[in-house]
Amino acid sequence: MIDHTGKIAVVTGAARGLGKGIAEKLATLGAHVIISDLNEEGLHHAAEEIRRQGGHAEWHVCNITDREQARRLIEDSAVKYGQLDILVNNAGINRDSMLYKMSYEQWDAVIDVNLTGVFNTMQPASKIMDKQANGRIINISSASWLGNVGQANYAAAKAGVVGLTKTAARELGKKNVTVNAVCPGFIETDMTRGVPKKVWDLMVSKISMGRVGTPEDVANCIAFLASEQASYITGEVVNVGGGMIL
Ligand code: CAA
Repeated sequence: MIDHTGKIAVVTGAARGLGKGIAEKLATLGAHVIISDLNEEGLHHAAEEIRRQGGHAEWHVCNITDREQARRLIEDSAVKYGQLDILVNNAGINRDSMLYKMSYEQWDAVIDVNLTGVFNTMQPASKIMDKQANGRIINISSASWLGNVGQANYAAAKAGVVGLTKTAARELGKKNVTVNAVCPGFIETDMTRGVPKKVWDLMVSKISMGRVGTPEDVANCIAFLASEQASYITGEVVNVGGGMIL
């Protein structure tokens, strides 16, 4: 039985979609979740919903591309509760375009949030978890890290997240800190709902299980990786895609 009672968990990008689903799952299993996002109103609603379901949640507005804000999110959480057990780096954006017409702005925005943003929270978290000799870091990469038409920026960032994850796993392994990447496939969120109908149908045709995933499908995997039961799993890239082959 997975039990996160008494654990302190930070989840980024948690105002809606996948991040909200992950925070809800961890809270249902007993964790005190600190949900973070740029979207203050969304955070407020998400925290209220978790509390209504009997969970413990608080929110912290943070732009993870801002190093100082990201550092404060992590350090304030750890100082307030005296520990930081779980960090889920979920915040991400997409600015899809064919490579030949991708703007520098589209490239920079996605790299800044999806890759540098992950570094910005992991750097202070790794220091804290190393010191407490305990911790779980779970980074949301994507099935797209292996390449996806229209996502040069996104795929590059998500592949970068895999390298970052594997390196941190090596550095922190002896300190009982595990670091893993989870690669969602095609999950029903606002991000996937934004793809053209033609691409949606194409994506679904590549899913062995024949259905789009739900945030809960991904959250279940994260709840496990964050648990005691997964204490010997580190540096892994776990696909949660219903057998999707891009
Ligand atoms: N596989 C194969 N071919 C594809 C394709 C795909 N996945 N996507 C597009 N193409 C083809 C199109 O059929 C088209 O071919 P033709 O010229 O022969 O008709 C060509 O590529 C150009 O596509 P568009 O006509 O759509 O070009 P566009 O410039 O209008 O739009 C685009 C390009 C913005 C990339 C658009 O195709 C798009 O939004 N694609 C979706 C990209 C995608 O998969 N995003 C995933 C979002 S979900 C997510 O990111 C979460 C996650 O972790 C997976």
